[in-house]
Amino acid sequence: MPMEVRVVRDATALADAAAAFVADGIREDPDQTILAATGETPMGTYARLADLVRRGEVDASRVRIAQLDEYVGLSAGDRRSLIGWTRRAVLEPLGIEDERTIRLDGQAADLDAACRAYEAAVAEGGGIGLALLGLGPNGHVGFNEPPSPADAPTRAIALTPESISSNARYWGSVDDVPRRALTAGMATILAARRVLLVASGPHKRTIVSRLLDSPPDPWLPASHLHAHPAATLLVDDAAMPGSRN
Ligand code: PGA
Repeated sequence: MPMEVRVVRDATALADAAAAFVADGIREDPDQTILAATGETPMGTYARLADLVRRGEVDASRVRIAQLDEYVGLSAGDRRSLIGWTRRAVLEPLGIEDERTIRLDGQAADLDAACRAYEAAVAEGGGIGLALLGLGPNGHVGFNEPPSPADAPTRAIALTPESISSNARYWGSVDDVPRRALTAGMATILAARRVLLVASGPHKRTIVSRLLDSPPDPWLPASHLHAHPAATLLVDDAAMPGSRN
């Protein structure tokens, strides 16, 4: 069954709808592990969730947050680290203690062992309850770059030139973007009980169009979600092929 598609008016409506989706999930299972993307698209979602937490409409303090990806080889405190971004955008605003994070350690001497430790910690926490994901312009989810088969494990990967250039906007220039990263595996993502994939803005329209037309295909890793039993694509009008804007 292809994934469910929900179209909303704009980025604000997308943040509202995604935050409501995540909040409902937390109310249902307050102890679950959430795989939480960084990137531009989910930032509004975390801000809206933080509003719900502040108003006492949801308590996220028991949730565990699993990192979706991390650059390799950054020094502690490097402004580019995705754990730093996760702390600022997710943990602190939602009132989740740092110790409730399942980290991908991009500084580990043995990256393979770090990936196995991550998978063991996810399994120990009962697996992923909800994966909140952005959609890369090349169809990646996390840093599962094309080609990524459905059973790809958590691993170290080389970023594609397309991902390096699309991430350059966060770090100043293409030369500032690290070349390697760890990513939660496609298999870990597909084992999540629910998946919410968010895409916003006209620059995502081409990849959303490809995704909607594609069968599960390693060359478009997000398309594996068509084979997931409970995956939703939440997209705004500007990112939706054939919409008026
Ligand atoms: P974005 O990133 O939300 O910043 O567009 C998505 C991605 O590249 O995974």
